[in-house]
Amino acid sequence: MSCGYKKVPFLNLPTPVEYLPNVSRQLGINLYLKRDDLTGLGMGGNKLRKLEYFLYEAQQQSATMLLTVGGVQTNHGRLTAAVAAKYGLKCAIVAIDDYPGEISANILLDRLMGADVILKANDHQRSVDAQVYETAMMVKERYEAQGENVYFIPMGGSNELGILGYYDCAQELTIQAAELGISDSRVIVPIGSMGTYMGLFCGLKDIDSPLSLTGALIMPYEQSVRAFAKDYFDKVKQRYDFEFGAEKSDFHIDEDYVYGAYNNAVPQVREAICQMAQKEAIILDPCYTGKAFNAIRQMILDRKIEPGETIIFIHTGGQPGINTPHHRIEFEAELMDGIKIL
Ligand SMILES: Cc1ncc(COP(=O)(O)O)c(C=O)c1O
Repeated sequence: MSCGYKKVPFLNLPTPVEYLPNVSRQLGINLYLKRDDLTGLGMGGNKLRKLEYFLYEAQQQSATMLLTVGGVQTNHGRLTAAVAAKYGLKCAIVAIDDYPGEISANILLDRLMGADVILKANDHQRSVDAQVYETAMMVKERYEAQGENVYFIPMGGSNELGILGYYDCAQELTIQAAELGISDSRVIVPIGSMGTYMGLFCGLKDIDSPLSLTGALIMPYEQSVRAFAKDYFDKVKQRYDFEFGAEKSDFHIDEDYVYGAYNNAVPQVREAICQMAQKEAIILDPCYTGKAFNAIRQMILDRKIEPGETIIFIHTGGQPGINTPHHRIEFEAELMDGIKIL
């Protein structure tokens, strides 16, 4: 129970924190990895911690179906599908996107786990957010007309309830860092819809943790990201009545390594993914964790991370993303030289 809210505790926690000796040596820092890619269901990832809370609320409301929204290859959608499958609920994922031409990566997993994937082309008249919520409400009504009791989960699971998964994780990580003797570390996490970062931010503050926190932004925000963070924080503070406050300047968010777009095929990110794969046999994803690990590498070059600093990087999952067509084609071009045909 966190902040008085209950969850369905289906995860095998705590997830491990592992030292990465080879990459640490190469980068000149002490790099630890919090393995939230190993959270279990549906190939794992950060969204499952949030979904423990959403599932509890859905069950309380006697929901028969989970409905969520995202990009066509949403990891959050895949993990919502996973939880629905495991707990006997139906699932649908709504995206404003074209059909990508093949059922691969997350969409393949969504369908394997029995979720419907509902796509609507972008009308380019309004924001994608406005279109996706409007479409989701229309889809919700259709399922309800068929007798389903639909529980709606917002984009990325990032609302006030959705922060609680990483609010809990802040405590888990603080204990692990103390056991490992690395309590003065900096935690680095990718930021998408921000629920993960905000949960950690609030959880660390609430227990006065010695760990510090940096978010690596992985997509451009329409408004200032710190203004967004402050609005989000204010809503969360109101709901949970935290004793601490926060100003825009308290959110340590690095926006310098976004490369202009969400989920774009950037060579630096592929290099970062290859380094982690070839030196530690750990697979990152091109959209979130590869971009965030590249941010760490760049922060070292730009002296935002000091030589010898201890970093705990949160591996938030997302690996199916390496098989989305646009990423796979870029990888193929670069890795083809190692395919030897006799
Ligand atoms: C693999 C992965 N990492 C990080 C994130 C970012 O989490 P949040 O949306 O809570 O900022 C996401 C969000 O979809 C994700 O799928």
